[in-house]
Amino acid sequence: MADNTDCYDVPQYWDMAFGEDTLLEADFIEAAATKYCNFPVRTMYEPGCGGGRLVVELAKRGYSVTGVDQSSAAVGFAKTQLAKASVAATVQTGDMKDLLPDTKFDLAFCLVNTFRHLLTEEDAIQHLTNVASMLSEGGLYIIGMHLLPPDADEEDEEEWSITEGDTTIDMQLVVEGCDRTTRLETLQFKMTVLNAAGEEIGEYNSGYRMRTYEAAHMVSLLAKVPAFELLDVYDFWYDLEEPLELSDELGDTVFVLRKIG
Ligand SMILES: C[S@@+](CC[C@H](N)C(=O)[O-])C[C@H]1O[C@@H](n2cnc3c(N)ncnc32)[C@H](O)[C@@H]1O
Repeated sequence: MADNTDCYDVPQYWDMAFGEDTLLEADFIEAAATKYCNFPVRTMYEPGCGGGRLVVELAKRGYSVTGVDQSSAAVGFAKTQLAKASVAATVQTGDMKDLLPDTKFDLAFCLVNTFRHLLTEEDAIQHLTNVASMLSEGGLYIIGMHLLPPDADEEDEEEWSITEGDTTIDMQLVVEGCDRTTRLETLQFKMTVLNAAGEEIGEYNSGYRMRTYEAAHMVSLLAKVPAFELLDVYDFWYDLEEPLELSDELGDTVFVLRKIG
């Protein structure tokens, strides 16, 4: 039976559906810090941290992590997960476009398309400018998101299933209404939750407006935020030995930016 609750407001299920790569992503963040920073990274910031799967993992690894999310349900869940893991981190509700006063971080990261929630160039610039001003000189900002190459199919559909303990999540993602002029599309999620007997215990449907990016759009955006230089790009294999060429061949892309000046 469908529930009106937003998928982001049931992070206990959303994080399960997207949690498979958490260790790989945390390994990449740590290894990138070692590869690109000439100082030891101790403090990290995650705008749009959701239920805190990466905040918790990196806090367990000894980093001082701060996460911000606009969903109070997600922030509450992240706090519970931190308590369960007996680790500390700061998680709070807020808008990822905003500056956190009196804070400095060594590294920031924003994965799985969260950056694409910023729907206009102005919002993306405001966000990047504020993240840059919260980073120490030489600090990194790692952004992971899908690019939409010029010749890529605008329609897309994916389905996957994850089981943990007694719970199974069936996810269906359909990309709808992609408009290359406005650079907006909707990611329509249907998240079905099943118990150990295979009975449905919840169904959540949410559509998220996202901004689309070709490689050239990202290059043009970054040119407007001189506080960042693009160091390298990777794909979702997260292989730091294999930096890639930023081009229209790339779909899943991880940008490693460095704060300069
Ligand atoms: C795709 S989820 C990713 C969550 C988390 N980063 C992860 O990797 O699991 C995107 C998250 O961004 C949050 N979000 C979207 N727009 C936001 C905004 N303007 N400010 C703060 N959080 C935002 C949503 O509430 C949601 O939790």
